[in-house]
Amino acid sequence: TLATVPIRCVVNGDPVEVPQVWVADSLLFVLRERLGLTGAKDGCGEGECGACVVLLDGEPVLGCLTPALAAEGSYVTTVEAYGEGDEVSAALAAHCGAGCGYCLPGIGLSVRTLLARQPEPSESAIRESLSGHLCRCLPPGPFVDAVREASETRAASGL
Ligand code: FES
Repeated sequence: TLATVPIRCVVNGDPVEVPQVWVADSLLFVLRERLGLTGAKDGCGEGECGACVVLLDGEPVLGCLTPALAAEGSYVTTVEAYGEGDEVSAALAAHCGAGCGYCLPGIGLSVRTLLARQPEPSESAIRESLSGHLCRCLPPGPFVDAVREASETRAASGL
């Protein structure tokens, strides 16, 4: 039987081919250990914390539970796609910078997905988008404030 296969996908806009991916490898493992993209974090490894969230064809997925093979032929987006930062990373830094920051890359990707779909999200929509993410340092309030600020910044800049 074939234990390893190559996968081809587009990561943060760049076409990549990763040879010899084991069928049991997670997408998180391949991003971090094979492609050197360490923005997505390995928190619990069990689907509980959301630190590993990346976008697969625009949908937030748990990198630790998603087989790397699922990325074949797909578009993968990690926090590294946002380079120097955008209004979401600025708002998260401003409101949630007192925490350790470990959860922020994953939260940022969920927040960007929310704002792309709902430019002015309700508080319940914001809390729903944050619900798959655990933060050990801060209560939910600062995150809700950060999403509101990012939403307002986007509106003010016509995004
Ligand atoms: Fe994937 Fe915690 S590392 S959910």
